[in-house]
Amino acid sequence: TSLVVAVDGPSGSGKSSTARGVADRLGLAYLDTGAMYRAMTWALLRAGTDLSDPDAIAAAARGIHLESGVDPLDPTIYADGVDVAEAIRGENVTAAVSYVAAVPSVREQLVAMQRQSIADNGDRIVVEGRDIGSTVAPDADFKIYLVADPAARAARRAAEDGSADALATEQALAKRDEIDSNRAASPLAMADDAVLVDSTYMTLEEVIATIVDMVEQ
Ligand code: C5P
Repeated sequence: TSLVVAVDGPSGSGKSSTARGVADRLGLAYLDTGAMYRAMTWALLRAGTDLSDPDAIAAAARGIHLESGVDPLDPTIYADGVDVAEAIRGENVTAAVSYVAAVPSVREQLVAMQRQSIADNGDRIVVEGRDIGSTVAPDADFKIYLVADPAARAARRAAEDGSADALATEQALAKRDEIDSNRAASPLAMADDAVLVDSTYMTLEEVIATIVDMVEQ
């Protein structure tokens, strides 16, 4: 039987750790769609594409081949055959990714890949992103919208990045969320039938358990 779990929400809400933990506990595949937008951005930066030009982005993106592994304990991502798992977390990619993700044809290209991956995994998968419950998998069996207070998000992210500057991190996250929420194509927004989970005062284990319980009930 199919079990598609959509996990959406703003940057730094704990989506990745949560979605991986839920997939592991439920024996499901895991797809990180943010990593796909990041890998596309990495490849465009490498190619020297002008990221202020949506038409240039659209044209160059068509020739880029991405591959995502779906093991929640070892997610992998390749762009044109290069392992970019580490490189896509770099500041240059993070600062540029929202501009690439705003280009409609890039979204069409990646959404098609994401739907293919869901089908390839027999509709048994946790999919993490911004538009999963609304656009990629509107028929998902469960839809979670994960949020956390901006300060909590920034503190967690700064700890992950080893950065001492939580305020700069908070501003960068806010900037990315603003672009993601205001773009014309599939903006970041909670689907009508999603369940809101606020992780501000919860541990990771509590958030994972909340979602696993929801699915198992
Ligand atoms: O989740 P992560 O922070 O890695 O996502 C990076 C960026 O990719 C987001 O800020 C957003 O611009 C874009 N994204 C998106 N749609 C998704 C996943 C990510 O537009 N489904």
